[in-house]
Amino acid sequence: MTEKRTYSIARIGGDGIGPEVIAEASRVTEAAGVAMGFDITWTDYPFGARHYNETGEILPEKALEEFTRHDALLLGAIGDPSVKPGLLEQGILLRLRFHFDQYVNLRPAKSLPRVPMPVKAESVDIVVVRENTEDFYMNLGGTGEGKSLEMCFEASRNAYDLKGRLLLDFTLPSHAAAQVGIATEAAVRRITAYACKTAAARREKCIVLASKSNALSWIYGFWEEIAKDEAGRQGVECTVANVDALCYHLVRDPGRFGVILTPNMFGDIVSDLLAGIAGGLGTAAGANIGDGLSMFEPVHGSAPDIAKTGKANPVAAILSAALMLRHIGEARAAEAIEGAVESYLAESDQADLPWEFGGKAATPKVGKAIAERVKSGRS
Ligand code: NAD
Ligand code: IPM
Ligand code: MN
Repeated sequence: MTEKRTYSIARIGGDGIGPEVIAEASRVTEAAGVAMGFDITWTDYPFGARHYNETGEILPEKALEEFTRHDALLLGAIGDPSVKPGLLEQGILLRLRFHFDQYVNLRPAKSLPRVPMPVKAESVDIVVVRENTEDFYMNLGGTGEGKSLEMCFEASRNAYDLKGRLLLDFTLPSHAAAQVGIATEAAVRRITAYACKTAAARREKCIVLASKSNALSWIYGFWEEIAKDEAGRQGVECTVANVDALCYHLVRDPGRFGVILTPNMFGDIVSDLLAGIAGGLGTAAGANIGDGLSMFEPVHGSAPDIAKTGKANPVAAILSAALMLRHIGEARAAEAIEGAVESYLAESDQADLPWEFGGKAATPKVGKAIAERVKSGRS
């Protein structure tokens, strides 16, 4: 007799609406398990603002070690007005992305049935492939007060950064700050290769690179050179668009775009823009993928403005769980969830839709409706 497939998932609800949407993503994941014959065991971790305020702990080494024994990590959102901005976002979210070298931040932007888009377009089906380990996100920098840049970098370097290169003979004026972005050939090549494979899986022959070499020639000129070379090796055409103009074209005519490759910071911005275009942050799923533990989380944050009101749209978290299931080898379950989300949106009464889509259904009601469809195979 073959054993039932069982997956072990680490789970961090986090702050604000994070736990609310993760509860629904979990409900729908379990429903997919019932329908497709696998079990999920969850291990919950309390990290986030409340845990930090009560204990002073952000993300202990022990947890990082435990995560490696799981098949994936499902995360809601991190960040709360009670904690200095950045402390938890960097200490938990970015720490996880860097520690596990999750070099791909995959952010599909897809229009959904009956979800109104604020732009003139029939439909949108774009995937942002965001580099997730470099650029201005490396925590290389510091503030001035007469310090040399070298001292700033020494103070802020961490084990996952550049292992001791760079360092300039330059003293910052006081009342100044520096933040340095790095691009390495290895990182640009591996993310470009991933973007090319993503395009090939969609039967597309071209990717667009979001760049800005007209102003920041060192880093983004380098990006263009390496990305074009790697795309050529992969048999894919890589066209380049300055990110400002790209944003303009995305709003005017999003239907003409497919795979968009971005450095880390542009990807952060472009993915929120695309979420808005597709109908709301509550539509936008995300995956942080690496060769070790991968992490799945919606693009949106903790939305403290709507926490505990029932207005949080769980669809983005539910679609992130579908990405997770596809990643761990349950592609049919992922398709069942994606289909159930679409049929629920297409067939439900207006009042039974999430608040973000103009309905009145509270977060758990949305999750239950989608889970029911997954269980009964109505996709
Ligand atoms: P946000 O994404 O939390 O919210 C932006 C706007 O979108 C808000 O008006 C919010 O109500 C709305 N929104 C977001 N998700 C929604 C959903 N599922 N349903 C309905 N409406 C939704 O961005 P912000 O306000 O800039 O950040 C709030 C906090 O979240 C900050 O602490 C920030 O650092 C953090 N943050 C965390 C992540 C993450 O954990 N991945 C991502 C972005 C922001
Ligand atoms: C995101 C978020 C994070 C980022 C923040 C919270 C550090 O905005 O996941 O898009 O900038 O990547
Ligand atoms: Mn963001």
